[in-house]
Amino acid sequence: MTGKAELDTLNIPAHVAVIMDGNGRWAKQRGGLRVFGHQSAITAVRETVEEAAQLGVRYLTLYAFSTENWNRPKLEVMALMQLLVHTIRQETATLLKNSIRLEAIGDISTLPSNCQRELAESMELTKDGNRMTLVLALSYSGRWDLTQAAKRMAVDVANGQLRPADVTEATVESYLVTAKMPDPELLIRTSGEQRISNFLLWQLAYTELYITDLLWPDFRKEHFQEAIRAYQRRERRFGKTSEQITVS
Ligand code: IPE
Ligand code: IPE
Ligand code: MG
Repeated sequence: MTGKAELDTLNIPAHVAVIMDGNGRWAKQRGGLRVFGHQSAITAVRETVEEAAQLGVRYLTLYAFSTENWNRPKLEVMALMQLLVHTIRQETATLLKNSIRLEAIGDISTLPSNCQRELAESMELTKDGNRMTLVLALSYSGRWDLTQAAKRMAVDVANGQLRPADVTEATVESYLVTAKMPDPELLIRTSGEQRISNFLLWQLAYTELYITDLLWPDFRKEHFQEAIRAYQRRERRFGKTSEQITVS
């Protein structure tokens, strides 16, 4: 609680992205199965969503399942998909109550049909939520995103709807699945791993990285606040000099 007062309410990132990592290790430390770790991660998700909305974050993107995660043991993949269905079903009412809109990015057509149905239903029900957009990255990877963008651009060039000479960074951005969102100012990764793991490769170009050793199931509101506090201590230079930033 005390920490909250120290946060600069005028400098809250508009978009926070999170690599929720460490569920398996959390379970192993307790002698449980990996799935137990995933089940125990829901509280962390709930607390993070609540705190982000409370602080005024506009977009919260959670990396829930990567393209590469399909290579895990079949039982774990199935358990994760079931957990997804169950959690969306359970949390939609809370999202609605808090005016939070649910969105999904990734190769959604590869998800089991009941997951797709549950997602579509929840997205439709929450579509008018204007307090915060909660974006679930599912069957997502940065390379997948860039590839689908390149493919659609090529189609539009072939159709005569896009001229190669007119392609700018803004054009590329408009073909990414994150087209309508600002780039994340802050990326949080739990479990201490110092890597991006094929997350938002284009969008993270100038994102501040915050890595904590905490395992995801232990992540709570105060830890989210701590990440924001760390972000607020950073000097974002975007290639300029420190003097240029502080004078202007
Ligand atoms: C993150 O925790 C959840 C997903 C990737 C779906 P992990 O399952 O990767 O946990 P660790 O990294 O093995 O501890
Ligand atoms: C990244 O975690 C993906 C998600 C959190 C969904 P991983 O556990 O899959 O990442 P790596 O394989 O250790 O890089
Ligand atoms: Mg992991």
